[in-house]
Amino acid sequence: MTGPPPAHDTGPDGPGPDDGVLDSTPLPGEDRLDASLRPRRLDHFVGQPRVRRQLDVVIRGASMRDLPVDHVLFSGPPGLGKTSLAAIVATEVGALLRHTSGPALERPGDLAAILTNLEPGDVLFVDEIHRLPRTVEEVLYPAMEDFQLDIVVGKGPAARSIRLELPRFTLIGATTRTGLIATPLRDRFGFSAHLDYYDTDDLQSIVTRSADLLDIPVTPDGAHEIARRSRGTPRIANRLLRRVRDYAEVEASGHVDAAVARAALAVFDVDEVGLDRLDRRVLEAIVVRFESGPVGLATLATSVGEENDTVEDTVEPFLLQLGFIQRTPRGRVATAAGRAHVDIDQRPSTLFDPTA
Ligand SMILES: Nc1ncnc2c1ncn2[C@@H]1O[C@H](COP(=O)(O)OP(=O)(O)O)[C@@H](O)[C@H]1O
Ligand SMILES: [Mg+2]
Repeated sequence: MTGPPPAHDTGPDGPGPDDGVLDSTPLPGEDRLDASLRPRRLDHFVGQPRVRRQLDVVIRGASMRDLPVDHVLFSGPPGLGKTSLAAIVATEVGALLRHTSGPALERPGDLAAILTNLEPGDVLFVDEIHRLPRTVEEVLYPAMEDFQLDIVVGKGPAARSIRLELPRFTLIGATTRTGLIATPLRDRFGFSAHLDYYDTDDLQSIVTRSADLLDIPVTPDGAHEIARRSRGTPRIANRLLRRVRDYAEVEASGHVDAAVARAALAVFDVDEVGLDRLDRRVLEAIVVRFESGPVGLATLATSVGEENDTVEDTVEPFLLQLGFIQRTPRGRVATAAGRAHVDIDQRPSTLFDPTA
């Protein structure tokens, strides 16, 4: 759930029955399985009806005018479908998706090289766009707004700026943090969509669809059990499905029903409401060590041995969503529901586990 999936996620599955049928070319930074389960068309994208409807209008409006789609910004927690939607937009307009990310673009020249290689109508996807260096961001402004690129050639007093015309292209940005995007950048997107956590019904549809693609026999109850413990997140639903499948093959002749799913998820340390070990360590730290808070992010992250970003991007949003914690000006506090969850948690505490 934090960072890239562990390497073993790709291992046990081997080539699937879907190979060759689906376009499962992985995008940079994803494993082959994520790619094979990725919805390719807007119609296959489950849930987020508002965003889907808006995007449909944006895409069809542009194609009626025979112009590239306006620049699009997707925001929301990891694993909710931002990259998938970027690829879908490209597919729907029949364009090529070019993929890069904020941290990969270190210097203005890195971005200039990509921009000058674009063909008319291409879709440029910039993942983690909130991590673009400011100097690179400034190159992006005229590129987005006027399809122009100002580059400086030469050094010192001889340096001069030349202006290049760029083809009309579509920029799609993705971010887990809209708050970190400078206003001038945000304002240059013609359409912004925020993705929210999925409800259990939608996640059940996603699990069922993935099970179908991977040829895993799963009952509706089994899919429901996985769905409701997936932290509202399709990527986690797919990952849990794979782990449950492993368990089912080893212990239950491959069939996944609710009982098998429950047993498997217990083995993999996913609790009743879908919290994993790290989620529980963070919650326990707030409740036990910091006596329900308030505690600052940095202190909290240090106490569980994680990066601030990991705690802030992947753990907290879901604990907030569950109503287990709150953010206050003085720090994070645990709610009564959060305290109750730690209390009923019968597992031995993972808080002081040196191996954790
Ligand atoms: N709405 C959805 N319907 C079906 N599968 C989805 C959906 N959203 C995400 N997924 C699955 O979850 C995985 C992670 O989605 P991704 O687009 O990479 O998320 P993000 O870029 O927001 O981190 C995808 O590979 C895909 O299999
Ligand atoms: Mg992504």
